[in-house]
Amino acid sequence: MERHGDMMILLTSLLVGSGEDGARGEDQLLPRAMGQGALGCKDLTYISGLQYVGSGFTKLVLRGNLLNGKEIALKSVHNGGNDVTRCVRRYGDLTGCGTLATYKLHKEVTLLRTLRHPGIITLHGHCYENSIAPDFRVTAMLELGSPLEMIQLLQTPWEKRFKICLELVNLLHYLANSPMGSIALLDFQPRQFVLVDENLKVTDIDDATMEELECKTDKDCALEFPSRTFAVKCSKAGRCTGINEKRNLFNAYRFFFTYLLPHAAPPALQPLLLDIMNATGDLRYGINETLEAFQNVLNLYKSGMNHRRRLLYLKDYMLIEGYRLNETNDGYRCWPSYNHRGCVLSVHNSEEAAEFCSKNTNCHHFIIGHQRTWTGRLLATFTSSTHKLIPDVNSRVYMKKPSNVKK
Ligand SMILES: Nc1ncnc2c1ncn2[C@@H]1O[C@H](COP(=O)(O)OP(=O)(O)O)[C@@H](O)[C@H]1O
Ligand SMILES: *[C@@H]1O[C@H](CO)[C@@H](O)[C@H](O)[C@H]1NC(C)=O
Ligand SMILES: *[C@@H]1O[C@H](CO)[C@@H](O)[C@H](O)[C@H]1NC(C)=O
Ligand SMILES: *[C@@H]1O[C@H](CO)[C@@H](O)[C@H](O)[C@H]1NC(C)=O
Ligand SMILES: [Mg+2]
Repeated sequence: MERHGDMMILLTSLLVGSGEDGARGEDQLLPRAMGQGALGCKDLTYISGLQYVGSGFTKLVLRGNLLNGKEIALKSVHNGGNDVTRCVRRYGDLTGCGTLATYKLHKEVTLLRTLRHPGIITLHGHCYENSIAPDFRVTAMLELGSPLEMIQLLQTPWEKRFKICLELVNLLHYLANSPMGSIALLDFQPRQFVLVDENLKVTDIDDATMEELECKTDKDCALEFPSRTFAVKCSKAGRCTGINEKRNLFNAYRFFFTYLLPHAAPPALQPLLLDIMNATGDLRYGINETLEAFQNVLNLYKSGMNHRRRLLYLKDYMLIEGYRLNETNDGYRCWPSYNHRGCVLSVHNSEEAAEFCSKNTNCHHFIIGHQRTWTGRLLATFTSSTHKLIPDVNSRVYMKKPSNVKK
């Protein structure tokens, strides 16, 4: 319980005088926490179309529509969940166990009101009902995301996987330098994250701590993981300074980077990525250096990775501007593609697309439209058979010159 000491003080101050009107009183205590237009208990009564989205050890998440049609996520205590059931089995106190779980959600809401970052789920509002004594109910109203499916992510293009890792690093940089001090996520796993418009956001933060362990010697500061243990120094003030940042970073390495970062990455980036893997896997880098390394990768990627200026492959193609091909599935595929049924890849320029097409025997054309990926690279569609051309001012078609088509 010690590590929650700081939170208990915050919670006690919040609970004083909070009733149905509690939210108003709290806003005086935390003036910059929530702006106007925050949702409250009244909005809950108008929610329609409730559907299950997920549950974990402690909480249950439903989706629902507000009166204005907007969809949000509602988080509440999962009374049939493992946390409450296990507690009841052990202590036989249903009310007490419910209260304990409610405190966790209350802590999460309090943290979400203070911490604002693109990598943290947005709290739209909350409802505290303690009129139904002795029960005290908390409902958090959050932006709706979709659970992070690691298996699915493994099949997406490297650029998307890199984005998720970069967003995670940005989040950890914020947490290490947060207004509340250096924050560690004690229960750090992919299932505590969701994607909102393809952006990574942490949603489960009831296990966050902003205290760093107290210590007498360096021995007290061992940072233990199933695979290995790291030594952290005990500061003069008697704290394991930096342990929170290190814990987050190693978890990011073992749960995210190892799966998402190196595989199917552009060869020119491999050395930098291997260095990031090695440096975070051994905790040689802190979060600042890690962020810098990620930014270097991003810049190199955006620059086209020193893609040569000379046009070696493009000369083998005829350019037909102002057209695209009628989208028919011709069976030409590549992996991992932006489009599951065909072959869509991101390229720096038409020369890079031509190089890919020339090195793949069944590829005969490619089309470049105006769509770009998040890094600004172009999306190119590669095909094998001839299709009808359709006028499209935003698109151009490259066809392999007949002399270059191998039979
Ligand atoms: N904002 C959200 N949008 C969509 N799904 C969510 C959202 N927040 C949580 N979830 C889903 O609900 C599950 C349980 O929420 P979580 O906060 O992790 O509860 P617990 O503390 O019980 O683990 C998550 O694993 C996630 O799949
Ligand atoms: C980092 O590289 C060193 C030297 O090659 C190696 O001994 C070590 O195991 C690597 N660490 C990780 C986490 O890959
Ligand atoms: C990391 O960067 C932040 C600001 O970006 C800075 O405040 C902090 O002192 C840096 N930490 C270290 C250890 O250099
Ligand atoms: C594209 O091709 C399909 C079938 O091959 C045809 O039905 C459709 O009309 C074509 N679309 C255009 C815009 O020409
Ligand atoms: Mg969870």
